[in-house]
Amino acid sequence: MINGATKLVGLIGWPVEHSLSPAMHNAAFASLGLNWVYVPLPVPPGTVEAAVKGLAALGFQGANVTVPHKQAVMPYLDELTEAAKIIGAVNTIVVGGAEAHSRTPLRGDNTDAEGFIRALREGGFEPQGSSIAVLGAGGAARAVVYALLASGATEVRVLNRTCERAVALVEDFGRLFPQAEFMPLPLNPQALAEAADASSLLVNATSVGMWPHIEDSPWPEDLPLPSHLTVFDLVYNPERTKLLRQAEAAGARTIGGLGMLLHQGARAFELWTGQKPPLEVMRKALFLDGDTAV
Ligand code: ATR
Repeated sequence: MINGATKLVGLIGWPVEHSLSPAMHNAAFASLGLNWVYVPLPVPPGTVEAAVKGLAALGFQGANVTVPHKQAVMPYLDELTEAAKIIGAVNTIVVGGAEAHSRTPLRGDNTDAEGFIRALREGGFEPQGSSIAVLGAGGAARAVVYALLASGATEVRVLNRTCERAVALVEDFGRLFPQAEFMPLPLNPQALAEAADASSLLVNATSVGMWPHIEDSPWPEDLPLPSHLTVFDLVYNPERTKLLRQAEAAGARTIGGLGMLLHQGARAFELWTGQKPPLEVMRKALFLDGDTAV
Protein backbone atom coordinates (compact mmCIF):
# COMPACT_ATOMS: atom_id res chain seq x y z
CA MET A 1 0.00 0.00 0.00
CA ILE A 2 1.23 3.51 -0.83
CA ASN A 3 1.80 5.55 2.34
CA GLY A 4 4.03 8.28 3.76
CA ALA A 5 7.12 6.06 3.68
CA THR A 6 6.77 4.86 0.07
CA LYS A 7 9.91 5.29 -2.02
CA LEU A 8 9.65 6.35 -5.66
CA VAL A 9 11.38 5.52 -8.91
CA GLY A 10 10.10 6.47 -12.33
CA LEU A 11 10.48 6.16 -16.07
CA ILE A 12 11.36 9.35 -17.97
CA GLY A 13 10.38 9.10 -21.63
CA TRP A 14 7.91 10.28 -24.28
CA PRO A 15 5.60 8.48 -24.70
CA VAL A 16 5.74 6.00 -21.80
CA GLU A 17 2.21 4.65 -21.44
CA HIS A 18 2.92 1.32 -23.19
CA SER A 19 6.13 0.56 -21.28
CA LEU A 20 6.52 -2.87 -19.68
CA SER A 21 8.93 -1.56 -17.04
CA PRO A 22 6.32 -0.50 -14.42
CA ALA A 23 4.82 -4.02 -14.36
CA MET A 24 8.28 -5.59 -14.12
CA HIS A 25 9.58 -3.38 -11.30
CA ASN A 26 6.37 -3.19 -9.28
CA ALA A 27 6.12 -6.99 -9.34
CA ALA A 28 9.71 -7.11 -8.07
CA PHE A 29 9.06 -4.62 -5.24
CA ALA A 30 5.93 -6.50 -4.19
CA SER A 31 7.66 -9.87 -4.14
CA LEU A 32 10.40 -8.59 -1.82
CA GLY A 33 7.92 -6.66 0.36
CA LEU A 34 9.63 -3.36 -0.47
CA ASN A 35 7.55 -0.21 0.05
CA TRP A 36 8.58 1.21 -3.33
CA VAL A 37 6.64 2.12 -6.48
CA TYR A 38 7.74 2.59 -10.10
CA VAL A 39 5.73 5.21 -11.98
CA PRO A 40 5.68 6.31 -15.63
CA LEU A 41 6.80 9.94 -15.99
CA PRO A 42 5.80 11.29 -19.41
CA VAL A 43 8.28 14.10 -20.13
CA PRO A 44 7.66 16.09 -23.32
CA PRO A 45 10.73 17.21 -25.29
CA GLY A 46 11.89 20.58 -23.97
CA THR A 47 11.16 19.81 -20.31
CA VAL A 48 13.96 17.32 -19.66
CA GLU A 49 16.06 19.64 -17.47
CA ALA A 50 13.15 20.43 -15.13
CA ALA A 51 12.21 16.74 -14.98
CA VAL A 52 15.71 15.59 -14.04
CA LYS A 53 16.15 18.29 -11.40
CA GLY A 54 12.68 17.41 -10.10
CA LEU A 55 13.79 13.84 -9.36
CA ALA A 56 16.15 15.06 -6.64
CA ALA A 57 13.82 17.82 -5.43
CA LEU A 58 10.95 15.35 -4.99
CA GLY A 59 13.07 12.75 -3.25
CA PHE A 60 12.97 10.06 -5.95
CA GLN A 61 15.46 7.23 -5.46
CA GLY A 62 16.16 7.08 -9.16
CA ALA A 63 14.71 6.64 -12.62
CA ASN A 64 15.00 4.86 -15.92
CA VAL A 65 15.33 6.93 -19.06
CA THR A 66 13.96 5.83 -22.41
CA VAL A 67 13.34 7.14 -25.93
CA PRO A 68 13.87 9.97 -26.83
CA HIS A 69 15.70 11.31 -23.76
CA LYS A 70 18.67 8.95 -23.21
CA GLN A 71 21.12 11.58 -24.48
CA ALA A 72 19.15 14.69 -23.46
CA VAL A 73 19.33 13.95 -19.71
CA MET A 74 23.12 13.75 -19.67
CA PRO A 75 24.02 17.47 -19.23
CA TYR A 76 21.85 17.68 -16.08
CA LEU A 77 23.50 14.83 -14.17
CA ASP A 78 26.30 15.36 -11.62
CA GLU A 79 28.29 12.31 -12.64
CA LEU A 80 28.33 9.62 -15.31
CA THR A 81 29.65 6.08 -15.08
CA GLU A 82 32.33 4.94 -17.51
CA ALA A 83 29.75 2.90 -19.47
CA ALA A 84 27.37 5.89 -19.83
CA LYS A 85 30.22 8.14 -20.99
CA ILE A 86 31.54 5.71 -23.58
CA ILE A 87 28.12 4.69 -24.88
CA GLY A 88 26.97 8.31 -24.84
CA ALA A 89 23.55 7.50 -23.37
CA VAL A 90 21.97 7.10 -19.93
CA ASN A 91 19.15 4.65 -19.23
CA THR A 92 19.37 4.64 -15.43
CA ILE A 93 19.67 7.50 -12.94
CA VAL A 94 20.54 6.87 -9.31
CA VAL A 95 19.83 9.61 -6.78
CA GLY A 96 22.52 9.31 -4.11
CA GLY A 97 21.81 9.51 -0.37
CA ALA A 98 18.14 9.68 0.59
CA GLU A 99 18.56 12.50 3.17
CA ALA A 100 19.64 15.68 1.40
CA HIS A 101 16.98 15.89 -1.31
CA SER A 102 17.63 18.72 -3.75
CA ARG A 103 21.39 18.84 -3.09
CA THR A 104 21.74 15.13 -3.75
CA PRO A 105 24.03 14.14 -6.63
CA LEU A 106 22.45 12.46 -9.64
CA ARG A 107 24.47 9.65 -11.19
CA GLY A 108 23.85 8.53 -14.77
CA ASP A 109 24.50 4.91 -15.69
CA ASN A 110 23.80 2.65 -18.65
CA THR A 111 22.57 -0.85 -17.82
CA ASP A 112 21.68 -1.69 -21.44
CA ALA A 113 25.20 -2.95 -22.11
CA GLU A 114 25.24 -5.29 -19.15
CA GLY A 115 21.64 -6.31 -19.84
CA PHE A 116 22.64 -7.26 -23.37
CA ILE A 117 25.61 -9.38 -22.26
CA ARG A 118 23.59 -11.20 -19.60
CA ALA A 119 20.84 -11.99 -22.11
CA LEU A 120 23.46 -13.08 -24.67
CA ARG A 121 25.11 -15.49 -22.22
CA GLU A 122 21.70 -16.74 -21.07
CA GLY A 123 21.05 -17.50 -24.76
CA GLY A 124 24.18 -19.65 -24.83
CA PHE A 125 26.67 -17.35 -26.59
CA GLU A 126 30.09 -16.53 -25.10
CA PRO A 127 31.51 -13.28 -26.58
CA GLN A 128 35.17 -13.78 -25.55
CA GLY A 129 37.32 -13.93 -28.69
CA SER A 130 34.34 -13.75 -31.05
CA SER A 131 33.68 -11.99 -34.37
CA ILE A 132 30.47 -9.96 -34.41
CA ALA A 133 28.27 -8.21 -36.98
CA VAL A 134 26.18 -5.38 -35.53
CA LEU A 135 23.40 -3.83 -37.61
CA GLY A 136 22.79 -0.19 -36.68
CA ALA A 137 24.92 2.69 -35.40
CA GLY A 138 22.60 4.55 -32.98
CA GLY A 139 22.53 4.51 -29.17
CA ALA A 140 21.43 0.86 -28.97
CA ALA A 141 24.25 -0.23 -31.29
CA ARG A 142 26.78 1.71 -29.23
CA ALA A 143 25.65 -0.09 -26.04
CA VAL A 144 25.95 -3.46 -27.81
CA VAL A 145 29.39 -2.73 -29.29
CA TYR A 146 30.69 -1.47 -25.95
CA ALA A 147 29.33 -4.53 -24.14
CA LEU A 148 30.86 -6.95 -26.64
CA LEU A 149 34.28 -5.28 -26.65
CA ALA A 150 34.34 -5.07 -22.86
CA SER A 151 33.55 -8.81 -22.83
CA GLY A 152 36.44 -9.73 -25.11
CA ALA A 153 35.03 -9.69 -28.67
CA THR A 154 37.96 -9.27 -31.04
CA GLU A 155 36.39 -8.40 -34.42
CA VAL A 156 33.43 -6.07 -34.94
CA ARG A 157 31.72 -5.25 -38.21
CA VAL A 158 29.22 -2.39 -37.99
CA LEU A 159 26.68 -2.19 -40.82
CA ASN A 160 24.43 0.83 -41.11
CA ARG A 161 22.06 2.35 -43.65
CA THR A 162 23.88 5.66 -43.19
CA CYS A 163 27.42 4.39 -43.54
CA GLU A 164 29.02 7.58 -42.11
CA ARG A 165 27.45 6.79 -38.74
CA ALA A 166 29.07 3.34 -38.80
CA VAL A 167 32.40 5.00 -39.61
CA ALA A 168 32.00 7.45 -36.70
CA LEU A 169 31.10 4.63 -34.28
CA VAL A 170 34.09 2.56 -35.37
CA GLU A 171 36.43 5.55 -34.97
CA ASP A 172 35.20 6.18 -31.41
CA PHE A 173 35.52 2.57 -30.30
CA GLY A 174 38.75 1.98 -32.21
CA ARG A 175 40.44 4.55 -29.97
CA LEU A 176 39.11 2.91 -26.81
CA PHE A 177 39.75 -0.71 -27.80
CA PRO A 178 42.88 -0.59 -30.00
CA GLN A 179 43.42 -4.37 -29.74
CA ALA A 180 40.14 -5.14 -31.55
CA GLU A 181 39.54 -5.06 -35.31
CA PHE A 182 36.75 -2.92 -36.74
CA MET A 183 35.05 -2.62 -40.10
CA PRO A 184 32.35 -0.06 -40.91
CA LEU A 185 30.10 -1.23 -43.75
CA PRO A 186 26.95 -0.18 -45.59
CA LEU A 187 23.78 -2.12 -44.81
CA ASN A 188 23.38 -3.85 -48.22
CA PRO A 189 22.98 -7.52 -49.20
CA GLN A 190 26.59 -8.03 -50.28
CA ALA A 191 28.06 -6.52 -47.10
CA LEU A 192 25.53 -8.47 -45.00
CA ALA A 193 26.45 -11.76 -46.65
CA GLU A 194 30.19 -11.16 -46.17
CA ALA A 195 29.82 -9.94 -42.58
CA ALA A 196 27.57 -12.87 -41.64
CA ASP A 197 30.01 -15.39 -43.12
CA ALA A 198 32.88 -13.89 -41.13
CA SER A 199 30.96 -13.61 -37.82
CA SER A 200 29.56 -15.99 -35.23
CA LEU A 201 27.01 -13.48 -33.86
CA LEU A 202 24.70 -11.10 -35.74
CA VAL A 203 22.92 -8.44 -33.68
CA ASN A 204 20.06 -6.30 -34.96
CA ALA A 205 20.36 -2.94 -33.18
CA THR A 206 18.24 -1.08 -35.74
CA SER A 207 14.54 -0.49 -35.25
CA VAL A 208 13.68 -2.47 -38.40
CA GLY A 209 10.96 -5.05 -37.72
CA MET A 210 9.47 -3.22 -34.75
CA TRP A 211 5.69 -3.01 -34.46
CA PRO A 212 3.76 -1.93 -36.53
CA HIS A 213 6.23 -2.83 -39.33
CA ILE A 214 6.36 -6.46 -38.26
CA GLU A 215 6.93 -7.89 -41.75
CA ASP A 216 10.14 -5.85 -42.23
CA SER A 217 13.55 -7.37 -41.66
CA PRO A 218 17.10 -6.06 -42.06
CA TRP A 219 17.94 -9.44 -43.67
CA PRO A 220 16.84 -9.62 -47.37
CA GLU A 221 14.21 -12.25 -48.20
CA ASP A 222 16.26 -13.90 -50.97
CA LEU A 223 19.64 -14.01 -49.17
CA PRO A 224 20.46 -17.35 -47.49
CA LEU A 225 21.12 -16.84 -43.76
CA PRO A 226 24.10 -18.91 -42.55
CA SER A 227 23.08 -21.58 -40.03
CA HIS A 228 26.31 -21.21 -38.00
CA LEU A 229 25.12 -17.78 -36.76
CA THR A 230 23.58 -16.82 -33.46
CA VAL A 231 21.08 -14.03 -34.24
CA PHE A 232 20.15 -11.57 -31.46
CA ASP A 233 17.35 -9.11 -32.20
CA LEU A 234 17.08 -6.17 -29.78
CA VAL A 235 13.54 -5.56 -31.03
CA TYR A 236 11.09 -7.20 -28.57
CA ASN A 237 7.79 -6.02 -29.97
CA PRO A 238 6.89 -8.40 -31.54
CA GLU A 239 8.64 -10.99 -29.40
CA ARG A 240 9.45 -13.15 -32.48
CA THR A 241 10.48 -10.70 -35.17
CA LYS A 242 10.65 -11.44 -38.89
CA LEU A 243 14.47 -11.61 -38.59
CA LEU A 244 14.24 -14.21 -35.81
CA ARG A 245 11.76 -16.24 -37.83
CA GLN A 246 14.14 -16.14 -40.83
CA ALA A 247 17.04 -17.23 -38.62
CA GLU A 248 15.00 -20.03 -37.07
CA ALA A 249 13.96 -21.29 -40.50
CA ALA A 250 17.65 -21.32 -41.53
CA GLY A 251 18.58 -23.41 -38.48
CA ALA A 252 20.45 -20.59 -36.71
CA ARG A 253 20.27 -20.02 -32.94
CA THR A 254 18.05 -17.05 -31.98
CA ILE A 255 17.79 -14.71 -29.00
CA GLY A 256 14.90 -12.23 -28.64
CA GLY A 257 15.04 -8.73 -27.13
CA LEU A 258 12.90 -9.32 -24.04
CA GLY A 259 15.84 -10.90 -22.20
CA MET A 260 17.84 -7.69 -22.57
CA LEU A 261 14.88 -5.64 -21.29
CA LEU A 262 14.69 -7.98 -18.29
CA HIS A 263 18.39 -7.83 -17.46
CA GLN A 264 18.83 -4.07 -17.91
CA GLY A 265 15.89 -3.66 -15.53
CA ALA A 266 17.29 -6.15 -13.04
CA ARG A 267 20.60 -4.27 -12.92
CA ALA A 268 18.78 -0.93 -12.46
CA PHE A 269 16.71 -2.46 -9.64
CA GLU A 270 19.92 -3.55 -7.93
CA LEU A 271 21.46 -0.08 -8.29
CA TRP A 272 18.43 1.63 -6.72
CA THR A 273 17.57 -0.78 -3.93
CA GLY A 274 20.89 -2.50 -3.19
CA GLN A 275 18.93 -5.77 -3.20
CA LYS A 276 19.31 -8.83 -5.36
CA PRO A 277 16.63 -8.55 -8.06
CA PRO A 278 13.97 -11.30 -8.09
CA LEU A 279 14.72 -12.30 -11.69
CA GLU A 280 12.03 -14.92 -12.13
CA VAL A 281 9.30 -12.59 -10.83
CA MET A 282 10.47 -9.88 -13.23
CA ARG A 283 10.70 -12.32 -16.12
CA LYS A 284 7.15 -13.51 -15.50
CA ALA A 285 5.81 -9.94 -15.36
CA LEU A 286 7.44 -9.19 -18.71
CA PHE A 287 6.70 -12.34 -20.60
CA LEU A 288 3.12 -12.87 -19.51
CA ASP A 289 1.71 -9.39 -18.92
CA GLY A 290 -0.19 -7.45 -21.56
CA ASP A 291 0.99 -6.24 -24.93
CA THR A 292 4.58 -5.41 -25.76
CA ALA A 293 5.79 -1.95 -26.60
CA VAL A 294 8.59 0.53 -25.90
P1 ATR B 1 18.58 3.89 -30.94
O1 ATR B 1 19.00 4.81 -29.84
O2 ATR B 1 17.43 2.99 -30.58
O3 ATR B 1 19.72 3.12 -31.51
P2 ATR B 1 18.67 5.69 -33.19
O4 ATR B 1 19.87 6.38 -32.67
O5 ATR B 1 17.57 6.52 -33.81
O6 ATR B 1 17.95 4.82 -32.08
O7 ATR B 1 19.17 4.59 -34.26
C1 ATR B 1 18.27 3.82 -35.01
C2 ATR B 1 19.07 2.85 -35.88
O8 ATR B 1 18.18 2.12 -36.72
C3 ATR B 1 20.05 3.56 -36.84
O9 ATR B 1 21.15 2.73 -37.03
C4 ATR B 1 19.20 3.67 -38.11
O10 ATR B 1 19.95 3.81 -39.29
P3 ATR B 1 20.43 5.29 -39.79
O11 ATR B 1 21.61 5.65 -38.95
O12 ATR B 1 20.76 5.10 -41.22
O13 ATR B 1 19.24 6.20 -39.58
C5 ATR B 1 18.49 2.35 -38.09
N1 ATR B 1 17.28 2.34 -38.88
C6 ATR B 1 16.07 2.88 -38.56
N2 ATR B 1 15.18 2.66 -39.54
C7 ATR B 1 15.83 1.95 -40.51
C8 ATR B 1 15.45 1.39 -41.78
N3 ATR B 1 14.20 1.53 -42.26
N4 ATR B 1 16.39 0.73 -42.49
C9 ATR B 1 17.65 0.57 -42.02
N5 ATR B 1 18.06 1.06 -40.83
C10 ATR B 1 17.17 1.75 -40.10
